[in-house]
Amino acid sequence: MTRRNQNPSSSMADLADPHDLYQKSVQSPDNDMNFLSNYFKEYTGEALRHFREDFCGTAYLSAYFVTQHVKNHAIGVDLDWPTLNWGIKHNISTLAPDQQQRISLLNENVLDVQPPRSQMIAALNFSYMVFHDRATLLQYLTNAKESLQPGGVMVMDIWGGSESQVLQEEAREIENSEDDNIGDFIFTWDQDTFDPMTHLYTTRIHFSFSDDSEIRDAFVYDWRLWTIPEVIEIMTEAGFQDCHVLWEGTDPDTKEGTAIYERTEKGDADLAWIAYLVGHTPSA
Ligand SMILES: C[S@@+](CC[C@H](N)C(=O)[O-])C[C@H]1O[C@@H](n2cnc3c(N)ncnc32)[C@H](O)[C@@H]1O
Repeated sequence: MTRRNQNPSSSMADLADPHDLYQKSVQSPDNDMNFLSNYFKEYTGEALRHFREDFCGTAYLSAYFVTQHVKNHAIGVDLDWPTLNWGIKHNISTLAPDQQQRISLLNENVLDVQPPRSQMIAALNFSYMVFHDRATLLQYLTNAKESLQPGGVMVMDIWGGSESQVLQEEAREIENSEDDNIGDFIFTWDQDTFDPMTHLYTTRIHFSFSDDSEIRDAFVYDWRLWTIPEVIEIMTEAGFQDCHVLWEGTDPDTKEGTAIYERTEKGDADLAWIAYLVGHTPSA
């Protein structure tokens, strides 16, 4: 991570915490967890009580989940100890003691972790794209299947559309009402390199502030941009059943996305889209 700022001793970039900025920019645990819990209930008829968050980072989602019901249990898995440790300090230690007891963070590789089995595994913000070849993605999904209870549900998000293959920087203003001397800031998603032959992709996250200071390369991802049919085929090969896609609805008046994702067999050739891929394990 490189930091560039105009006033090194007191710039907003110096004051800001990249994990905090990341959570404020791209995570919305209440929306995500309500969506996942509701879909699980709708799909299986049961309440979601045992949730695993793969590539959990700061475990923001897991921490929210255990606050939602006294029987909710969460497991977060991430390779990077400093990131997990940040989550423990900022997201877990602030929970009530009984909530803390219902969350476990594993500093391990998602390729290896299995028991205890969960009802749902979510791998969000495209994190599985860290796997660059079919064999490793198959290994991940096979392991995930073995980590789920019978009738369990696997959910991954995916993005695409013609704009996903364009080298560009897209900036978005993030409202920050917290009293942290930073104020609103700009989140920039930088699609830096893309190779159409391999679909290998480097993306970067930068943050900039109203005092003109910035944090360049706060997060850098070396990913493979997988496509829906590829991932659905690999999920099916791993043994998931009824693999399907949840596609975002379109408001007929504004033609904008509705943020409501529903099962559908056919997508639209949007310039940029996000969808969810779902599969379930056989019932006992
Ligand atoms: C894009 S962040 C995702 C953070 C968060 N889950 C989210 O939805 O925004 C990707 C995370 O995956 C972790 N990671 C990468 N490869 C991993 C692996 N093989 N096993 C476990 N964690 C891994 C990284 O340490 C990083 O924290």
